[in-house]
Amino acid sequence: MTVSLLAVIIASFLFTQNRLTGFVRDYLYHQRIRQDSLSVERLAATVAPLLQSAQTDALNETISAAGSELGGRILVLDPDGKVQFDSFTRLEGTRLALPVVVSILAEGEQQAYAIYRRTGPDVDPSGDDSRVSYCAVRLTGSEGDLGVLVYASPVAEMLNSLAEVERQVGLVFLAAALIAVLLTGLFSRLLTRPINDLTKTIQKMGKGDLSVRANVRGNDEMRTLAENYNVMAEQLESLDQSRSQFVSNASHELKTPLTTMKILLENVLYQPDMPREMQEEFLGDMNHEIDRLSNVVGDLLTLSRMDSHKMELHWKRVNLSETVNETIHLLLPQADRRGQHLESRVTPGILMNGDASKLSQIVYNLTENALKYTGDGGRIVVTLVERGKNAILTVRDNGIGIPAEDVGHIFERFYRVDKARSRETGGTGLGLSIVRQLIQLHGGEITVSSRQGEGSEFTVRLPLEGKPYEASLS
Ligand SMILES: Nc1ncnc2c1ncn2[C@@H]1O[C@H](COP(=O)(O)OP(=O)(O)OP(=O)(O)O)[C@@H](O)[C@H]1O
Ligand SMILES: [Mg+2]
Repeated sequence: MTVSLLAVIIASFLFTQNRLTGFVRDYLYHQRIRQDSLSVERLAATVAPLLQSAQTDALNETISAAGSELGGRILVLDPDGKVQFDSFTRLEGTRLALPVVVSILAEGEQQAYAIYRRTGPDVDPSGDDSRVSYCAVRLTGSEGDLGVLVYASPVAEMLNSLAEVERQVGLVFLAAALIAVLLTGLFSRLLTRPINDLTKTIQKMGKGDLSVRANVRGNDEMRTLAENYNVMAEQLESLDQSRSQFVSNASHELKTPLTTMKILLENVLYQPDMPREMQEEFLGDMNHEIDRLSNVVGDLLTLSRMDSHKMELHWKRVNLSETVNETIHLLLPQADRRGQHLESRVTPGILMNGDASKLSQIVYNLTENALKYTGDGGRIVVTLVERGKNAILTVRDNGIGIPAEDVGHIFERFYRVDKARSRETGGTGLGLSIVRQLIQLHGGEITVSSRQGEGSEFTVRLPLEGKPYEASLS
């Protein structure tokens, strides 16, 4: 940015300087020509009659006086170009073939003006500048051409004025360029510092430190960028934390049944004379643990497929009423075993777009929870109604309920209100998080209201036509 700005400044300066000194030079030359022509013409008017009447002394006097008055050298040439009078009295008698003289004598001009390097007569031996201006005018008498009057003078003064203008312009430019460089330096520092800071923060984050945050300051786009970056960093950090939490929870969940199984197996292995019934009981327990292990692994696989968006929903027109009834039917024996009353109030013929097996899993998990967390002889009611463009499924129980402080967490992975109790019933705390994700894949939502000791009610809203964008991709 600094370089391009400087380039623009230099280019515009060179252009301005060129134009400006051009104007000044033209003006000064013009002035000089006018002044010289006027003086020479006036002098010619005096000299011509003196020349014609051959008053040599008067002529010499006039020429010397005019020479010192004008500050230059005055020459009078005859029609052949020979010097008759010279105010410096050095060239008398020599022929002078200056172009200005030629243009009057040979080309018939009345007047001629030119500036030459000093090749002609020595005008100002002390002058530094070698340029000399020549102004020539035809001398005419009553009987025709008398010759040429030439006035030669140094132009150093004029050139000095021009050099002064150039110097002044140069100074102005230098000052402007200096200020521009300082300002661009300042602006680019102001502009690049927050970018550099952010880059360093990103580099630190790239090296694995997810706790770093960008400095939020100012009130411009950089501030918005830093704020958005921090939001992203926070999400990444919490994602990272929940990922390691998940891995540690999952390992723990897998380790527990493995430890139990090892103990059971060692009992059977190292006690060969163990009674057969006892052996069978141990093996039965091991079988139970294997079931539990396989359930946990199944749930983890489901979650990981959903996380990586590999979960494919087989969309079709589903009779949700039938799906709910069939799923409840599967759970009836379990309810019967504990003397629980499982009731379904399903409006028949509710159709929706969805994946039948996933919808069934939603109903199964919620109802199974209701049965698990309700005492023997309790009551569980599953309702399905159509409301507007949605199907509303509710699973209500009069079980143990959920303490207020836990309600907000029950959809988190591995979250269980009462770890010991859940373990007895074989829960891992993954059921509800799977349920919630399946509902979201169908474009719906789940809410819960519960009172400890009184029971819980889970409400699921499922859009009948909804085919969410993400799901439609897979
Ligand atoms: N109907 C309910 N009544 C009371 N508490 C419930 C109910 N449903 C869920 N909970 C609480 O929410 C927690 C999380 O439920 P979730 O279904 O995710 O896990 P889980 O049932 O313990 O194990 P699983 O992964 O086998 O389903 C349960 O451990 C339980 O404490
Ligand atoms: Mg459950």
